[in-house]
Amino acid sequence: MTSAALEAELYALTHRGTPGDLEFYTRVCHGAAAVLELGCGYGRLLHALAQRGRRVLGLDSNRELLALAKRNLRALPKARQRGVELVNADMTRFEFAPGFDRVLLPYNGLYCLLGRRAALACFRAARAALAPNGLFVFDVWNAHAFHRDRAIASSADASEPIVTIQHAGRVWDVFERSRTRRRAQRLDVTYDYLPRGGGKPCQIVIPQRYYLEPELTELLARAGLVAHHRFGDFSGARFSARAEHLIVVAGLDRTTQRALGKGPGMAKLVDDRSRGARLARRILAGM
Ligand SMILES: C[S@@+](CC[C@H](N)C(=O)[O-])C[C@H]1O[C@@H](n2cnc3c(N)ncnc32)[C@H](O)[C@@H]1O
Repeated sequence: MTSAALEAELYALTHRGTPGDLEFYTRVCHGAAAVLELGCGYGRLLHALAQRGRRVLGLDSNRELLALAKRNLRALPKARQRGVELVNADMTRFEFAPGFDRVLLPYNGLYCLLGRRAALACFRAARAALAPNGLFVFDVWNAHAFHRDRAIASSADASEPIVTIQHAGRVWDVFERSRTRRRAQRLDVTYDYLPRGGGKPCQIVIPQRYYLEPELTELLARAGLVAHHRFGDFSGARFSARAEHLIVVAGLDRTTQRALGKGPGMAKLVDDRSRGARLARRILAGM
């Protein structure tokens, strides 16, 4: 096994999602015929979203994670596997014909984009891929308190054990440490994997640029999107500065509606877009 493939497998064993997120995204995609997941990784969510008759497209820039996703998807019944495609691409530079009912960017994937320009490019590409009444949905850990409470501009945490995992008959202790640069809104996390009984350790560094809620609202607006809902957790609590997560359900904004409404035969599209907001309300009702 190459070291990149080993890294992908160790990464997959330590990044298992946020409790409740699979159920949330499953609900968000209820009734959707075409779903695009940006940063699909090893296919954790694709697995849950694959359905007979639904198109599910997983996009990721990491080939090893995509290979793992392909392997994991083989466990599904053929009828569910059939609609799933995997694409090796950059989520800031993709172009698909509009038509996705949902574009998802789950589990802090947005924080992998290390600057506002990249986040904006991603939002624009997501908007362009959406069907007229489609929804763009993402979740990140809420950085508000973290950013506000940092007394010092830059700091590095000591390495701490976080979990023990088993891989290919070996036991690995996993340690995490992070380095913060407040001004740049950076929180780079390093994972050290130490095999018990000796052997070559493995290290994975995940650079992150966190975004604050007002900044995301501005970037969405610049991309022609508007947040219909903001949640603070996966049970549907309203977002607040103290919330643990920021979960955004967005659709095309009115300016985009008007711009598209200028073309011939666009009246239906405009109607579809206002239906987008209603659709989001209906899907998420009761959360
Ligand atoms: C935190 S993981 C989320 C994985 C998956 N969505 C989940 O919920 O388990 C972020 C994923 O985004 C991918 N990624 C990071 N930057 C990317 C980029 N510019 N384009 C495409 N994928 C990217 C990483 O390879 C990783 O698989």
